[in-house]
Amino acid sequence: MQVTRIADLSRHEGDEIRIQGWLYNKRSSGSISFLIIRDGSGFVQAVAAKSELDPTVYELCTTVTQESSVTVSGIVRRDARASGGYELTLTGIEIVHLAEEYPISLKEHGADFLLDHRHLWIRGPRQHAALMVRDEVISAAEGWLRDNGFVKVDAPILTPAACEGTSTLFETDYFGEKAFLSQSGQLYAEAAAMAFGKVYVYGPTFRAEKSKTRRHLIEFWMIEPEMAYADQDDNMVVQEQFVSHIVQTCLANRRAELTLLGRDLSRLEAIKPPFPRVTYDEAVEILHAAGHEFTWGDDFGAPHEVAISAGSDKPVFVKNYPTQVKAFYMQPVPGRPEVVKCADLLAPEGYGEIIGGSERIHDLALMEQRLKEHKLPPEAYEWYLDLRRYGAVPHSGFGMGIERTVAWITGSDHVREMIPFPRLLNRIYP
Ligand code: 4AD
Ligand code: MG
Repeated sequence: MQVTRIADLSRHEGDEIRIQGWLYNKRSSGSISFLIIRDGSGFVQAVAAKSELDPTVYELCTTVTQESSVTVSGIVRRDARASGGYELTLTGIEIVHLAEEYPISLKEHGADFLLDHRHLWIRGPRQHAALMVRDEVISAAEGWLRDNGFVKVDAPILTPAACEGTSTLFETDYFGEKAFLSQSGQLYAEAAAMAFGKVYVYGPTFRAEKSKTRRHLIEFWMIEPEMAYADQDDNMVVQEQFVSHIVQTCLANRRAELTLLGRDLSRLEAIKPPFPRVTYDEAVEILHAAGHEFTWGDDFGAPHEVAISAGSDKPVFVKNYPTQVKAFYMQPVPGRPEVVKCADLLAPEGYGEIIGGSERIHDLALMEQRLKEHKLPPEAYEWYLDLRRYGAVPHSGFGMGIERTVAWITGSDHVREMIPFPRLLNRIYP
């Protein structure tokens, strides 16, 4: 009998098929047992009728425990009430492994308990759905970049220098020398852009963030495109197309998962270019008008980002932040050295920053001066300065945080459930 994935049941209506999976849940009423089977591609209900089955088979259906691995055979029936549209009439069951009493019951558990059992928790429907959307976000992002001429290059994880400030660096020993876990692959993406024109790096990034918030992970994944001969305006046009493509692809391919998560799909349907652009100066005015106390020159916190984007159904670019709150490599705005050519993209519905991007300094003398001002050791950046010595061009790029983007698209409260195994302040297990 043919092994079929639950996701493919629609192609087998009326056929007897076999599913290799696990028992998610079961209930019995009199002489009928309802087994909910999951196989990684989805969930389906198998209905076992005592009167139709061999007594030993029916006995297995009533004694099988939660999360036992099972192969189930049955006939595929269309059922409009079923979540995936199909149901199985069970014809046979084999228990591959009878699970011990499963620690995660179907009642509510506290966050700490669930995080301690993350290796099991990811089997549950909501976690499964969110991580399926995560997979779609990554493949849509990489697909768009590939289709638009970006070459994937990989950046190192062990690095000799900081990219995003020295306060969140993870330090490690590299055969007697100091090394740091990468905070961003950007500096290497810049070098690669001078070799390949349009590139992206994708990988894990590390920040020793002391803040315990719903938006911060210690280890998160970032996709970072970088383009030679591109200015800040080009950069924002790419971002709005990129983000819109990702959202629309999730809507097309992960509608069932988004629906299971209770996402308002009309919110996502509205995500199409162009996205509004406001300057930092205008954003400060918006804050003052909304009654926030805020001093020009400070960085925005989460409540400020919520207030700035409140008026828009689409993500909002906030551009030209004060030089003093941004990284060392950003190009100043001509005639206004106190602000830089950067933009953060703030997601709607209060999700805050999902992208940070900028035009990079391409002038050697200015870059040398910035390294000094930021007290960064010049020897570690010699190679980076070379990019300003040999064929420097205006160039721009950005980094999109995968987990923040997935949290927004799925409408989830916390980034910690948007990654299979979160690293948090005070948590490195499991
Ligand atoms: O704004 P950030 O720090 O920008 C950079 O790292 C640039 N070097 C990117 C570039 O231009 N190539 O980080 C970019 C994005 C943020 O907008 C956010 O989505 C995510 O990375 N991010 C985090 N996500 C989860 N936890 C954290 N601690 C994060 N810090 C940043
Ligand atoms: Mg940022």
